[in-house]
Amino acid sequence: MHPIKRYSLFFLESLLYGPSYGYANQLIRIPEPLEPVRCWELIQYQWNPVADWLRLNYPPEFVRRLLLSRRLIESHQSGIAEHYDVSNDFYAAMLDKKFMFYSCADFLSATETLEQAQENKAKAILDLIEPRAGDEILELGSGWCSMLRVIAERTGEKHRLHGCTLSRDQFDFNQRQFGFDVEFADFITREYPREAYDKIYSIGAWEHVRPTEIPGLLSKLHLALRPGGRLVKHFFCLLQDGVPVSAIAGQLCFPGSQLASYHFHVKAFEDAGFRIVRQTIQDYRPTLRCWYDNLVENKEVAIKSGGVRNYNRHLVFIAATWRFFNEGESMVVRFQLEKK
Ligand SMILES: C[S@@+](CC[C@H](N)C(=O)[O-])C[C@H]1O[C@@H](n2cnc3c(N)ncnc32)[C@H](O)[C@@H]1O
Repeated sequence: MHPIKRYSLFFLESLLYGPSYGYANQLIRIPEPLEPVRCWELIQYQWNPVADWLRLNYPPEFVRRLLLSRRLIESHQSGIAEHYDVSNDFYAAMLDKKFMFYSCADFLSATETLEQAQENKAKAILDLIEPRAGDEILELGSGWCSMLRVIAERTGEKHRLHGCTLSRDQFDFNQRQFGFDVEFADFITREYPREAYDKIYSIGAWEHVRPTEIPGLLSKLHLALRPGGRLVKHFFCLLQDGVPVSAIAGQLCFPGSQLASYHFHVKAFEDAGFRIVRQTIQDYRPTLRCWYDNLVENKEVAIKSGGVRNYNRHLVFIAATWRFFNEGESMVVRFQLEKK
């Protein structure tokens, strides 16, 4: 694309969708691989107070709501495909080598590797699920089967484990490599058999459930769990209610998704008939930094398997997400809930 056209688009998009969106998309559109140190610095740049106010407040909230409502008409399937069906090799180049978890890890010390931190996370979530032989267990958004593998190793009962994904690449990956009972299905719109599961969990997938869909989905999951059944959820949420500017810029990477606030989730859990047994907060920043560094280190493979645009898009999205957490707009929470 000619530089004049690129800059014109930048101004137009900044005017329509706000400077965060325009700035991020301008970087993504650069036809060469982004220089990683410069990209990180540009995204973390402290703008002057006026520009910073615009970054956080423009366009006004009623315009943001209107813009977002147009994006939320799209099906989840197209949004998930756009983000996740880049190629499995691309994500292998970015994620931890052992599990390919695409969710926040637990760094217990500053010197741990991403692999160790993901192992800590798997253990922590295992403690919340407490899978036992004979349990029927369902994962919503099972990714590259990371947690299914961990649970199968613990219980030795692969056939009672079920998963679902809306990514064709992930679905094929399971068929080829692991053969778990993973369905290609939308976990929001699908029907669930009544009282069929002892445990249902999701890790890094609930972020895709739009606020308007949360209460209905929780009611379905409540009915799908056996009496005393358990719901374990690990996801990130907003600290404030409303539609922040980041919800518009976020469409560049997660089209069709919208985050809800912490209070919205807690109220929805309780309204649906769940009791909060345990909850913790995790720091996403070290995981994001590791993914960024992995992509840069494995740049050749990442570009060969996903193309320059996806390489740039992921560098921008990871660095911007780091800032989003660093500025306290969002936090990663983990809940153990019990069916009342
Ligand atoms: C960030 S990945 C996390 C994967 C995995 N749980 C992990 O921790 O590595 C999100 C997952 O949720 C799935 N997902 C998101 N929305 C979905 C929906 N409506 N129906 C089915 N799967 C969905 C995606 O396909 C993907 O597998």
